[in-house]
Amino acid sequence: MTSPAAPRGHAVFHDLKVADVRRLTDDAVAVTFAVPPELRTAYGFRAGQHLALRIPTGTDGGASDRRTYSICSPEDPEPAELTVGVREVAGGACSPYVNRRLAPGETLPVLTPAGRFGLRGAAVPGGRYGAVVGGSGVTPVLSLAATLLGRDPAARFCLVRSDRSADSAMFLEEVADLKDRYPDRLQVVQVLSREEQQAGLPAGRLDAERLTELLPALLPVAEVEGWFLCGPLGLIQQAERGLRALGVPRRQIHEEIFHVDDAPAPPPPASPIALRAWAVPPAVPEHSTLTATLAGRSGSWPLRPGEKLLDAVLRARPDAPYACRGGVCGTCRAFLVRGEVRMDRSYALEPDELAAGYVLACQSHPVTEQVELDFDG
Ligand code: FES
Repeated sequence: MTSPAAPRGHAVFHDLKVADVRRLTDDAVAVTFAVPPELRTAYGFRAGQHLALRIPTGTDGGASDRRTYSICSPEDPEPAELTVGVREVAGGACSPYVNRRLAPGETLPVLTPAGRFGLRGAAVPGGRYGAVVGGSGVTPVLSLAATLLGRDPAARFCLVRSDRSADSAMFLEEVADLKDRYPDRLQVVQVLSREEQQAGLPAGRLDAERLTELLPALLPVAEVEGWFLCGPLGLIQQAERGLRALGVPRRQIHEEIFHVDDAPAPPPPASPIALRAWAVPPAVPEHSTLTATLAGRSGSWPLRPGEKLLDAVLRARPDAPYACRGGVCGTCRAFLVRGEVRMDRSYALEPDELAAGYVLACQSHPVTEQVELDFDG
């Protein structure tokens, strides 16, 4: 797979028509949007990326909120359709609407694709790839597996998926179809966490210890070019620990976290440049000014005490990109051109992005009197 340089520039919302809503499990659907010809280039995406949707949250039709959902279709530079997987979160503000009320023919504002999950660079011809996913984490990995296997007749992919139960597993049919298409090159192992072992399926929790036993039995771990971890924070931490114990370098591990409860912030990264973005501990200036460039236009605004950079930008530029506001999705990623910031937490940036000077605007507080962000960079 030639993974193009990450599409940058300003992500924008367009209204897209819902072409199909297909039930996957009792609590999950696949939603397909039709992309009109004039917008297909704008919605070109890399395998592993996601879409932010603006979803009605009130009964009067006025209130809305944003959520990101991963694309499950294979990579496409000019897609005619885009399909995302949406699992209902009990008590959630948005996913119940998508699961129970959204219908074909309706339109939703959809942000152009974003996200950095996936291969960072060109695929190695004939390369082996591995993935450990939990629950709805299978969604972007389905796109990655289909893309890698479809583009390179010698590529191999091993998917280890952890699901609560067989009934709750999303995209079972699609994974089975992929397995039928590439029987010798796709390996699939499903672990059920809340079900007794059945029909030879392993059961129980997938933790670091289990993975260090399971993975070497499935494939030569040292020959794997890239690992994709996707799902809840706990599973990703366990999988990363297991892979590191097996000697896998961190740069070969790609992560996308789907759920973070109120877990403590991850430790500061080791890079001295990245430390600019973390508590060192910083003194907070009394007055700070933020300059931001977005879609080629720049502006400067004073920051209010305690205000995060994204909130300051949104006061003047409501088109600024964001979705989760929790440091998870990476939609608000921006290049720190000048000054220093402290981030409350970051689950979305890889170490090389932090080292290069990227920050999450939704988590950043100023540490210097002047801070400059470039959302187009
Ligand atoms: S909006 Fe999701 S990480 Fe900032």
